[in-house]
Amino acid sequence: MDQVLAYIDANRQRFVEELCAWVRIPAISALSEHAVDVAHNAEHLAQALRALGGERVSILPTPGHPAVFAEWNHAPGKPTLLVYGHHDVQPVDPLDEWHSPPFEATERDGRLYGRGVVDDKGQVWVHVKAIEAFLRSGRGKLPINLKLIVEGEEEVGSPHLGELLRAHADLLRADYVCVSDTAMFGRGIPSLCVGLRGLIYFEILVSGPASDLHSGSFGGGIANPANALARILASMHHDDGRIAIEGIYDRVRELSPREREEIASLPHEDAAWLAFSGAPAAVGEAGYGTLERIWARPSLDVHGLSSGFQGQGAKTIVPARASAKLSFRLVPDQDPAEIARLFQEHVRRVTPPGVRVEVQTHGHGAPPYLAPTEHPVFEVAKRAFSKAFEKPTVFMREGGTIPFVRTIADATGKPCLLMGFGQPDENSHAPNEWLDLDNLHRGIKSAAWLYEELGNL
Ligand code: BES
Ligand code: MN
Ligand code: MN
Repeated sequence: MDQVLAYIDANRQRFVEELCAWVRIPAISALSEHAVDVAHNAEHLAQALRALGGERVSILPTPGHPAVFAEWNHAPGKPTLLVYGHHDVQPVDPLDEWHSPPFEATERDGRLYGRGVVDDKGQVWVHVKAIEAFLRSGRGKLPINLKLIVEGEEEVGSPHLGELLRAHADLLRADYVCVSDTAMFGRGIPSLCVGLRGLIYFEILVSGPASDLHSGSFGGGIANPANALARILASMHHDDGRIAIEGIYDRVRELSPREREEIASLPHEDAAWLAFSGAPAAVGEAGYGTLERIWARPSLDVHGLSSGFQGQGAKTIVPARASAKLSFRLVPDQDPAEIARLFQEHVRRVTPPGVRVEVQTHGHGAPPYLAPTEHPVFEVAKRAFSKAFEKPTVFMREGGTIPFVRTIADATGKPCLLMGFGQPDENSHAPNEWLDLDNLHRGIKSAAWLYEELGNL
C-alpha cells in the first residue's frame, strides 16, 4: 500500500484541478435546458474512465439522463465491488448568494466551493482517483474486481433507475456495494452511514373560482382556495409535532433501547448543530431527540407554496387557485405506496367544502434503508475508513434519501456500504456548496484501503 498512498500524496493538487474541470459542466438534471450538459458531463467522466483502462466503459442511456458504467475485472478469485455515485447536480438558485460562481470551483481555506463538489462529483472522483492510484503507481493493479455505476438522475428522484438496473442486471452483479454520497458525522470523524430515510413527493392543487375575483364582492360568499389549502396543510400535524395522518405510524419501527443508546453516544450538541441552519430552535415530534427525529422518525415538509397576489403592496382578491409541494421522509418499515394512499385519503377527508382538490404524486417514491450491520463487511469498512482518517469510525444514519441504495439492496441482497466524505454543514443543494479538501484526500485513501481490505477477505 505504501506505493499507492505515496501516489495519492504526490498527486493531491492535480486531483483537485481535475475535479474543478468536471465541476465546470453545469449538469443540472432538473432543468431541461441543461440536458445537453448532463450528457456532456457523462461523456467527460466516461473519457476519464477510458483513460484509466476501464473495460466496457459505456454511457447507459435512459428515457431521461444517461448513467456511466465501467469495470476493472482483473482480480480472479477476488470479490467484486460495485461503486455507485451520481454525476448530476442540483440547480444553483439563488445565484446572488454564491460568493464565487457555482461552476467555477474555487478554493478558500482548505475548502473547494462549487455546485456538485461534494454532491456528488467530488465523491465519485474519490473512487476514480483511488482506482488510478492502484493502476498508475508501482502497484499496477487493483486488489479486487471493481465496477462503477454513476447515475445522471439522482437529484430528480432516479425515475428510470429500476429499469436501468433490470436492463443491466448482469453488468451490475457484485459481492458488495459501496455508495459515496453522504456526509461524515463531524470534522475528521470517519462515519459509515447505516440508514437512510425514504421519500415520497406530492403536489396538492386546490381550485375554486374560474379566475381571481374581487374579495369585496365575493369574499365570504365562496370558498377561498388559499384559505382552504392553509387548512389542509395545518391539518397534517398535531400540536406536539406528530404527523396527524391516520395510519402513518402503523409500520414505523420503534428505535430499540440499544439503538437509542448508540445515537446518544455520538458527540452531538443541539446548539452547535442548530447553528448550521440559522433557525432559532430545534423542534419536532415530542419524545425524540434531534438525531432520532431526523434519522429514524418520519417527517413531512412543505417545499413550496403558491397562490394569489405576490406583487408589491396590497391587492384584494379571492385567488382562483392555490398549490403546495410537499414530501414525506419515510423510515423503516414504511412503504411509499401505502403512505401515498393514506395521504390521499387524509386530504380528501379534510378538504373544506366549496373547492376542488387534486393530489399529484411526483415519481414512485423511494423506500427507507437500514444496513445489515451484523455482516462482517461492515467491520472491514470501518477498519479501512479509520486507517485513512486515523480515528475510530462511527456508525450513523442520514435523514436524506438515495434511491439506488434500497433498489440495489432489494435486487441483489448484497450489503451496501455508505462511505461518505461530506460534512454536515456542506451546503449541498444550497448556495456555497463546499468540499473539505482534506476529506477528498483522505477519502481517496479510505477508498483505496477499502479495496485493499476487501481483497484480503
Ligand atoms: N446525497 C444526497 C442524499 C443525502 C442527503 C445524503 C442528505 C446525506 C444527507 C442525494 O443527492 C439527495 O439529495 N437525495 C435526494 C433524493 C430525492 C431527490 C429522491 C434527497 O434526499 O432529497
Ligand atoms: Mn447526492
Ligand atoms: Mn443531492
